[in-house]
Amino acid sequence: MSKEQNIQYKLVRCKINGVMKETMVDVRASLTDMLRGEYQLNSVKKGCEVGECGACNVLIDGECYNSCIYLAVWADGKEIRTVEGLMGENGELSDIQQAFIDEAAVQCGFCTPGIIMSAVEILESGKEYTREELRKLLSGHLCRCTGYENILNAVEKTMQKRLKKEL
Ligand code: FES
Ligand code: FES
Repeated sequence: MSKEQNIQYKLVRCKINGVMKETMVDVRASLTDMLRGEYQLNSVKKGCEVGECGACNVLIDGECYNSCIYLAVWADGKEIRTVEGLMGENGELSDIQQAFIDEAAVQCGFCTPGIIMSAVEILESGKEYTREELRKLLSGHLCRCTGYENILNAVEKTMQKRLKKEL
């Protein structure tokens, strides 16, 4: 039997950005590969591919994960969210995306989608964090352009705006 014939495939059914999807995936494939290769969700970036940089982060059932070290088959039955799912019906940007633009928190942009998904997890917790706590929560992300202060500004301001609205 050739190597090709040895590859096993499994059906993975999951909700991606609100829509049910299903596809056969190589059991060795990462979630990054499934999202990019099968569904063209190219906001999910390949950086280190060993769980060190956060460029591939997506939300799985509301929690942020490095999709490069998460097998695609584990996503069966789960709900996955990426930056593509954050926009409104008419393509309007979400508040956190707009804040990244307003605060000049995007430079090369390679790290940005992963950071935004971590920010979504932080914001959806509904909690108020100090700047130092936010720094820690975002510390799993590497930005080689060193835009960290602007990134923190964007997340902090959006958190404060959302909390004010809820009062
Ligand atoms: S590409 Fe996944 S953590 Fe770096
Ligand atoms: S904006 Fe360049 S690596 Fe983050």
